[in-house]
Amino acid sequence: MKRAVIFGVTGQDGSYLSDLLLSLGYKVTGVARRTSCDNTLRLAHLLHCKRFNLVQGDITDVGSVYRILNKAKPHEVYNLAAQSHVWTSFDQPGLTWDVTGKGCLNILEVIRDMNKRPRFYQASSSEMFGDSMELMYFEDGSHGKYQDENTAFNPQSPYAIAKLAAHHATGLYRRSYDLFACSGILFNHESERRGDRFVTRKVTRYVADLDYALANGEQIPKLRLGNLYSERDWGHAEDYVKAMFLMLQQDKPDDYVVATGETHSVEEFVIQAFKCIGIYDYEDYITIDEKLYRPSEVPYLRGSPFKANDFLDWKPETSFTDLVRRMVHHDIQSRSKYGTSEGISNPS
Ligand code: NAP
Ligand code: GDD
Repeated sequence: MKRAVIFGVTGQDGSYLSDLLLSLGYKVTGVARRTSCDNTLRLAHLLHCKRFNLVQGDITDVGSVYRILNKAKPHEVYNLAAQSHVWTSFDQPGLTWDVTGKGCLNILEVIRDMNKRPRFYQASSSEMFGDSMELMYFEDGSHGKYQDENTAFNPQSPYAIAKLAAHHATGLYRRSYDLFACSGILFNHESERRGDRFVTRKVTRYVADLDYALANGEQIPKLRLGNLYSERDWGHAEDYVKAMFLMLQQDKPDDYVVATGETHSVEEFVIQAFKCIGIYDYEDYITIDEKLYRPSEVPYLRGSPFKANDFLDWKPETSFTDLVRRMVHHDIQSRSKYGTSEGISNPS
């Protein structure tokens, strides 16, 4: 039976990757850090599965990483653990560095010394490109801006700098010590399990609350948002964890961009979400709060997923409009079922 260890198992991607690997017959050891409140809500449906083992550990503590990996003796290790919120990284750059940058190095160091070295996946990010992009010319004479595996990195946040350090460490350990180590440069991916401080989930939860309030003749405060004009390449997390898995099944380790190839502004996401409840004038419900603007912004992300398409035979299955619709409908359902649009105890 194949064995995998997932660091960051309690997060959005950790929960979907656990679902995928368990469905493929793996034994999964999920590493969760100690928190004062339960952080396993996204895993509630897996906790009784015999092939799923939840252990405590923290990637900033190299001793705990050592003990976990040497006990589990995995074939594959996925590092999804991070302080992953970009805005927070401006407030807590030191913590972000320790977790998101050094944490990856800790895992690589332990793997380097193992007798039977597992294959390693690092969760790299399109944030590393910052404001860097290239021009692509199409056969019909049109052109577009995009990022791919050859685009220069120009990180614009402490989070992106820490991710870039981890990305380079992964490449260095692959070249220097012959580790089977891959980085997936994933563009934004969202879902019904997305954390509620990321803009997509913040919007879809608000739309669900608004729908409920309007149906009951109640009023709720306006939604406070920051920059509506940045553009992101948004896909569904369930599609993206398949690409992580595929990277570790190849003959040779490599890095891949994982993206849809489409970009949409935050405003377009907002428009689409409000449309789901029949509202076409979102301005009545939103207020712009400059405190939510970042000291430095990534203005435009659009990934070119040709390498992943060709070599991994990977393609995203969820369109932008389906992504928004799924998130809004999930939040509306859990709003009426649980009295809150959170509802992440229902991991659908
Ligand atoms: P997420 O929901 O924020 O999950 C992050 C995970 O890391 C959580 O399980 C968290 O635990 C854990 N963690 C935080 N600090 C830790 C520590 N010191 N030791 C061990 N675990 C720790 O993020 P996600 O959206 O699933 O993303 C997964 C990974 O992909 C992250 O590394 C993220 O930076 C990267 N990424 C995400 C995207 C995206 O659009 N989602 C795109 C590119 C790259 P708690 O549950 O206790 O907080
Ligand atoms: N979070 C947040 N909250 N973002 C807002 C808000 C708000 O109220 N209003 C506008 N935005 C804008 C941000 O300024 C940014 O341009 C965009 O919405 C997306 O912000 P997030 O959803 O926080 O995601 P992100 O793009 O910064 O980072 C996510 O994607 C990266 C990959 O590109 C995270 O998942 C990172 O961990 C990931 O690496």
